Amino acid sequence: MMTLTVREIAQLSHGLVSDLADPAAPVIGPVVVDSRRVTRGCLFVAVSGARVDGHEFVAQAVADGAPVVLASRPVAVPAVVVGDTVRALGDLARGYLHRLASPVVVGITGSSGKTGTKDIVGQLLTTLAPTVAPEGSLNTEVGLPLTVLRADADTRYLVLEYSARGLDHIAYLCGIARPQVGIVLNVGAAHLGEFGSRTAVAQAKGELVEALPDDGLAVLNADDDAVVAMASRTGARVVTFGLGRQADIRAVDVVLDELARPTFRMLTARGDVEVSLSLHGAHHVSNALAAAAVALELGLDVEAVAAGLARSQAVSRWRMQVSERSDGVVVINDAYNANPESMKAALAALGAMGSGGDSARTPRRMRAVLGVMAELGPTAATAHREVGAAAALIGVHQLVVVGTAAQGIADGAIEAGLDPARITVVDGVAEAVSLVEKDLSHGDIVLVKASRSADLQRVAEALLGGPNSQAGAHE
Ligand SMILES: Nc1ncnc2c1ncn2[C@@H]1O[C@H](COP(=O)(O)OP(=O)(O)OP(=O)(O)O)[C@@H](O)[C@H]1O
Ligand SMILES: [Mg+2]
Repeated sequence: MMTLTVREIAQLSHGLVSDLADPAAPVIGPVVVDSRRVTRGCLFVAVSGARVDGHEFVAQAVADGAPVVLASRPVAVPAVVVGDTVRALGDLARGYLHRLASPVVVGITGSSGKTGTKDIVGQLLTTLAPTVAPEGSLNTEVGLPLTVLRADADTRYLVLEYSARGLDHIAYLCGIARPQVGIVLNVGAAHLGEFGSRTAVAQAKGELVEALPDDGLAVLNADDDAVVAMASRTGARVVTFGLGRQADIRAVDVVLDELARPTFRMLTARGDVEVSLSLHGAHHVSNALAAAAVALELGLDVEAVAAGLARSQAVSRWRMQVSERSDGVVVINDAYNANPESMKAALAALGAMGSGGDSARTPRRMRAVLGVMAELGPTAATAHREVGAAAALIGVHQLVVVGTAAQGIADGAIEAGLDPARITVVDGVAEAVSLVEKDLSHGDIVLVKASRSADLQRVAEALLGGPNSQAGAHE
């Protein structure tokens, strides 16, 4: 972050400097909402969450080195006092971004794959110029401004993830950081419970391209009708990506290796190139094409894009994170979150690995430990059964369903013909681990996936010998 004085923070956040604070004191950043992340010179923002109220930690934050805190009421430490700290954080980020030498903001939205794509875009653009991208999945009215505030005078590209749980959420985030380039990945069933319909999800995601300036660029998924339709909602130029013929940037001849890593030929207006991803799962082809579209637009040539894509790693943890144990067992930790599309994508990847990839090496036994998909509303029952059917279709050797809320997965698998003897519904993590561990043998592949609330990364970690011993773990 570029240094700001307490007075400047108050001006940008429309707040008042409390008597205890020195208006001229410098704040060097970072801006944090978690008191455990306070470092000397940082700004602590007290956010009232569902479980904890940040105002309870202001004294600790100052003791740990914050020269000032942002609070919604006078507190007994130096503060900038505002009406609503989340709004004020947004105002601060907006005002701060205006002061920078206008970095190009690349915005990413969609139901699945925002963080994964953000990581690819970030890794490609860093090869061009200083780039700031969120840590993990900071994509809300709190997380997005925190990332904006990490940029500084040298930042040329600012990659941001825009999430929505309702209408106007993305428009609000675009009001803080207006994207110049906007990617819409897909419109799926994530958070359907809150939105009510896929049409409403599309309406919300499209707010990203509505915010683009006329000289901006909308990067749209040609394979998703609801995304293509967003072209009419923007004055910006449109570039499409996908596997279908109509896409401007297109992947053909997609082949998966024995760990479901895709290789394909990328066709672009600037030439064609062979691409091999280090990421696992055919669904990453689409994300890689979207990232390629942005990188080509911003000045990388096709060869450099292909090289950058080949190097791109899954830097955010628990998303298709593939680790091999010393005994040859492969564990896929995809437990970060789950919705019907990402469940089916993960099962397709498991199926590809189980059959030995497209070059048909030796088949391997597939096991799936699956838990609930949350926030799906009335579609939840059908969605769980469909996932069970998908597991049956790839022919899993063992299906462990964790938690009765996910029972539908077991029912769907049985309906689709999977031998009930291969299916067990268990209560929790410990039971799932011991069940899978019991007859695991060399070469078996275990997929672990559910919504965040199910905490299934603990299953993957236990299978790999504990949270700290996990090979290739990333924050
Ligand atoms: N294009 C895609 N289609 C289906 N699933 C995908 C796609 N891209 C990524 N996924 C899967 O979706 C899950 C979540 O990925 P990621 O965290 O990148 O998504 P996100 O959109 O950032 O999610 P969140 O809304 O929680 O921030 C992972 O299991 C990932 O493998
Ligand atoms: Mg995310």
